[in-house]
Amino acid sequence: MRRNEDTPATLDLFADDAPPLSSTEQIGPCSFVLHGFALPLIDRLLPALESILQRAPFRHMVTPGGYTMSVGLSSCGQFGWTTDRSGYQYTPTDPQTGQPWPEMPLAMRELAQAAADAAGFADFNPDACLINRYIPGAKMSLHQDKDEHSYQWPVVSVSLGIAAVFLFGGHSRSDKSQRIPLFHGDVVVWGGEDRLRFHGVMPIKQAVHPLLGEQRINFTFRKAR
Ligand code: SIN
Ligand code: FE2
Repeated sequence: MRRNEDTPATLDLFADDAPPLSSTEQIGPCSFVLHGFALPLIDRLLPALESILQRAPFRHMVTPGGYTMSVGLSSCGQFGWTTDRSGYQYTPTDPQTGQPWPEMPLAMRELAQAAADAAGFADFNPDACLINRYIPGAKMSLHQDKDEHSYQWPVVSVSLGIAAVFLFGGHSRSDKSQRIPLFHGDVVVWGGEDRLRFHGVMPIKQAVHPLLGEQRINFTFRKAR
């Protein structure tokens, strides 16, 4: 359904008026949505994801406040992000298996570097990739990514599977957020003066993706150390 004058301008994730693939949308001074940027790599990304999850399956972590996250989490790379009652931290091993986190597959690293480059951040060399799994109803509350040692590198976020509405806020929690629909293959990059902006994901609407089924997978690449 295409919007017309009689239709209120609400977000309709099933509308065919999503921005064209391979267009770039600027959402902040140093923040961009690269529409469809991951699509050429999908055939390499999905098997890579499978093999990571065999070694480091999704788990629902508990925040320091005692809240169990609705999003399932895993990681790959030199460091993985974990949370428990004692706080948030990057660890070199998966606390669930005692093993190092699976290596970051080349296809994932290449994608993160190419996306950072396209957004103006040359030489991005991520050492951590968080992998989030959202099923319908799962959400991520507004937060800042601030557990990394330095904020000089951007965050590169890749969306796969069913659609989401990404909330991109300001520098304080109460700032109004932009609502940005993200589809399979979209990549968001934020860095520089936007690096610590609040962001989150609205509760995911029920849908089925032809490749990934009833789920949304998100990768966020960071330089943790
Ligand atoms: C995150 O902020 O860690 C995840 C963002 C997303 O799922 O798009
Ligand atoms: Fe985040």
